[in-house]
Amino acid sequence: MDQPRADLIWNGGPVLAIESSCDETAVAVLQHDGVILAERVLSQQEHLPFGGVVPEIAARAHLAHLPGLVRAILADAALSPGDLGAIAASCGPGLIGGLIVGSGLGRGMALALEVPFVAVNHLEAHALTARLPGLAEGGAPFPYLLLLVSGGHCQCVAVDGFGRYRRLGGTIDDAAGEAFDKVAKMLGLGWPGGPALERLAEGGDPTAHRLPRPLLGRPGCDFSFSGLKTAVAQRLAILPAPLPESDAADLAASFQAAVADVVADRVGHALALMPEARLLVVAGGVAANATLRARLTGLAAARGIAFAAPPLRLCTDNAVMVGWAAIETLQAGRAAGIAVDELAMPPRPRWPLEQMADRLGTSARATAPA
Ligand code: KG4
Ligand code: ZN
Repeated sequence: MDQPRADLIWNGGPVLAIESSCDETAVAVLQHDGVILAERVLSQQEHLPFGGVVPEIAARAHLAHLPGLVRAILADAALSPGDLGAIAASCGPGLIGGLIVGSGLGRGMALALEVPFVAVNHLEAHALTARLPGLAEGGAPFPYLLLLVSGGHCQCVAVDGFGRYRRLGGTIDDAAGEAFDKVAKMLGLGWPGGPALERLAEGGDPTAHRLPRPLLGRPGCDFSFSGLKTAVAQRLAILPAPLPESDAADLAASFQAAVADVVADRVGHALALMPEARLLVVAGGVAANATLRARLTGLAAARGIAFAAPPLRLCTDNAVMVGWAAIETLQAGRAAGIAVDELAMPPRPRWPLEQMADRLGTSARATAPA
């Protein structure tokens, strides 16, 4: 493996960031202080006929869309490639084809421009988004509890400091977003199902169906949604078909209420495991859900801690968060006088957050201040 170049110190110039770990093709440029100079997200429509993300199609779509998106972003920011101080890309976890495409383009740009390349952990990017200047009151100082709820991830993470993350618990079956998507599909809604299910639930009675609350009250903060999903399927089987709109709304509202109850309970347990946390941060697509947000807001208030939810466009997959994670990495490297040059860091489908601590021993992150 190539050795990092010790002379490749970030000059503080703008960071161009690429996100391609799932079905969002996204590019952004951020200034050293986190000011967003340009951002674009293209949600791939190529998967619609399949009712879910098809990895091979995602990789090809990233390949088709990324070059044009990079050009457009540079034009939006009125920058030329030579103005860039570093390039960052998501390198995992995620769908490997897309990660190879996005990080391959990023690596090529960094090589040609002779600027540092930062291999960003997508989960770390979600975890650090709340620290983007101007988002959370006081800048979201460490330590805090992160609830990450998306289509692919569902976990409570103790964010102890930069590079120091502990997974306190996570789903033992489906991710929260996955459960929303599957139940939405049963109800005949489009994909992705979360937003459609939330809209349908607005007109429904959340107490109409007594659905299970898996793991509620159990020690720890693991999640489970498959029993809840099965319970919805069983209700559907005994309801009239085709299902009248009002019955569908009642079932959607009952399901949403069950998810909110379970998530609030699990996060409550996570906070008990992390008494030092003064802040609760939520990220991931499911954070868009108003019922869930309201529950989490209430939970934080009851515990006397702050609550931060990044704006929706920064909760779902985006490149701004990748750029910000890279900036925190580059700043840490600078503070330690160590070059961050991660060209040789391979994209990987699995990349648990705990492994970021191992990287501390081998890269600029070694002496990074918390
Ligand atoms: O973070 P994200 O954009 O992509 C990843 O999965 O990484 O999250 C997408 C997920 C989908 O499962 C979608 O159904 C869910 O977030 N989602 C919602 C809502 N908006 C998006 N779930 C419930 N309520 C919503 N309003
Ligand atoms: Zn994500």
